[in-house]
Amino acid sequence: MAFETTASGKWTRAGIAAIALGALGVPAIGALAMPAEEAAATASADAPLTEEQKAESKALFSQFACGSCHALAEAGGTGHIGPEFDGNEGLDKAYIVNIVNNGQGAMPSFGGMIDEAQIDQLATYIVQVKK
Ligand code: HEC
Repeated sequence: MAFETTASGKWTRAGIAAIALGALGVPAIGALAMPAEEAAATASADAPLTEEQKAESKALFSQFACGSCHALAEAGGTGHIGPEFDGNEGLDKAYIVNIVNNGQGAMPSFGGMIDEAQIDQLATYIVQVKK
């Protein structure tokens, strides 16, 4: 499917997006299910997490008590010590990964406590589920 071509023999945008995601090792299932336009637009972002990945990240969010300081309805977080995630336009993945790793002010650092790949997935989760 990633190798489908147009009648003129050019790569389709969905095909290119799938290859780009594949090169990054990101599962491209979600991207392939999307219309070409949308897939192209999100080629530089992460593919939507699977239900299993969401459940893992939600469990981490509880385990490390993120929700005691941050509001994120999807994960049951209701804290107000730190900024709310729901309605927070300023959050992107790289920013979250950095803060979780290094902390900032009253925000504790979780680097070394949470596996790097898990922090990555947790950041993706927050970006994808915040309302
Ligand atoms: C003890 C309370 C506390 C816990 C637990 C906590 N945080 Fe924070 N967090 C804060 C505070 C306070 C800030 C604001 C820091 C600042 O800028 O001074 C913050 C900031 C952040 C930010 C930046 C938000 C923004 O809008 O700038 C992110 C992202 C974040 N925390 C993610 C997490 C995640 C993910 C966890 C769980 C792994 C977590 N935090 C656990 C208190 C906490």
